[in-house]
Amino acid sequence: MQSSTVNLPRIVAGTLVVVTGLQLCSGALVTTYDAAMAVPDWPSTYGHNMFLFPLREWLGGPFDLMLEHGHRLWGTVVGLLTLVLAGVCWKWPVAPAVRSLAVAAVALVVLQGLVGGFRVLLDSQTVAKVHACAGPLFFAVVVAIAALARRGGEAVRPSTPLAARTAAGLVGAAYLQLVAGAQLRHLDAAVDPRTFHFLVGLHLLGAVAVVGLGATAVAATRSGASRGAWGWSRAILFLVGCQIVLGGGAWVAKYGAPSALLPEAWRMSQPVVARSGSGAVIVTGHAVLGMLLLGAAVALAIAAGALARRPVAAAVRGVGKGAFA
Ligand code: HEM
Ligand code: HEM
Repeated sequence: MQSSTVNLPRIVAGTLVVVTGLQLCSGALVTTYDAAMAVPDWPSTYGHNMFLFPLREWLGGPFDLMLEHGHRLWGTVVGLLTLVLAGVCWKWPVAPAVRSLAVAAVALVVLQGLVGGFRVLLDSQTVAKVHACAGPLFFAVVVAIAALARRGGEAVRPSTPLAARTAAGLVGAAYLQLVAGAQLRHLDAAVDPRTFHFLVGLHLLGAVAVVGLGATAVAATRSGASRGAWGWSRAILFLVGCQIVLGGGAWVAKYGAPSALLPEAWRMSQPVVARSGSGAVIVTGHAVLGMLLLGAAVALAIAAGALARRPVAAAVRGVGKGAFA
C-alpha cells in the first residue's frame, strides 16, 4: 500500500544517510587506530562465521578487534538497508534518476564491501586508499537520493547560474580534497619526501579551493536561490572553517607542531598513529568532517538546482522544471 502522505523512499534514504554516516565514523576510527589487520581473515572472523563470532570475544577483546569486527557488522547493516532502499525505489513512483541512483548505490556498496575485504586479505595500503575514497562516494549517492526523494518528484527550483556552477564545483573540489587527504592518511612509511611535500601542497591548495568555493556559494545563494541552498551554503562555510582548524590539529597530532616553520619542521617524520585520546578525536574528526562536507556539498548542489537541466532557461521562463522532476 502506498499512502500519499508517507514518502517511504525519503524515510529509508534518510535513515541510510545516518547509518552510513556512522559507518564512515567507524571506518575512520579503524584507520586512526591502525586496526585494519586486527582481524586477519575475511569474510570470516578468526575462522568463525562473521555473524556468529562470540559476543564476549568481540566486546571483551582488544580494542582494535572490537573496532574492525564492528565495522564489518555495521557494513552489513548498511548493505541490507541499501537493498531495502533499492526495493522501495523500484516499487514507489520515484523519478527515474532516483531509481538509477539507487541502482548505483547497490553497486557501490557491494564494491565497497569487497574492497574492504581485499584490503585485509592483501594487507594493502593501495586498496585501503580505494576503500577510503569509495566509501564517501557511496555516502554522496545516498545523500543525493535522500535530497531528491524529499522533493517527491517536484521540480528542482532553478537557481542562478553562478550558484548552480559554484555548488557543482564545490562537490568536485570536496571530493578531490578527500582523495588528496586519503593519500596523506594512508601514507606509505617509505614514501620519498618530495612525494610527501607534493601531497601536502596539493591538500593545502585543495583547502584554498574549498574555502573559496564555499565563500562564493554563500554570496551566490544570498538572493535568487532557494532558502535550502542559502542554508546549506552557510552551513558548509562554517564547517569548512572547523575543518581548517581540525586539519591543523591533525597535522600537529601526526607530525608535531611546526615550530616557527623552520625548514627542519618541513622534514617529513614517520607517520605517527594518533593513539592518544584527543589526537584520535581530532584526526578522526578531520577525516569524517571531510566526508560529511562532500555530502553537504551534494545537498547544496541539488538545492541550488545544479543538477537541473537548464536552470537559466527555466528561471527565465519561471517554470523551474529540473532534470529530476
Ligand atoms: C558498507 C560499507 C562500508 C563503508 C561505507 C566503509 C567505509 C570505510 C571508511 C570511510 C573507512 C576509513 C578510511 C579512512 O579513514 O581513510 C574504512 C576503513 C576500513 N574498512 Fe570499511 N567500509 C565499509 C565496509 C567494510 C567492510 C565490509 C570491510 C571488510 C573487511 C571493511 C574494512 C575496512 C578496513 C580494514 C578499514 C581500515 C583501512 C585502513 O586503515 O587501512 N569495510 N571503511
Ligand atoms: C577544507 C579543508 C579541508 C578538507 C575538506 C580536508 C579533508 C580531509 C580528508 C577528507 C582527509 C581524510 C581522507 C580519508 O582518509 O578519507 C584529510 C586528511 C588530512 N588532512 Fe585535511 N582537509 C582540509 C584541510 C586541511 C588542512 C588545512 C590541513 C593542515 C595541514 C589538513 C591536514 C590533513 C592531514 C595531516 C590529513 C591526514 C590525517 C591522517 O593521516 O590521519 N587538512 N583531510
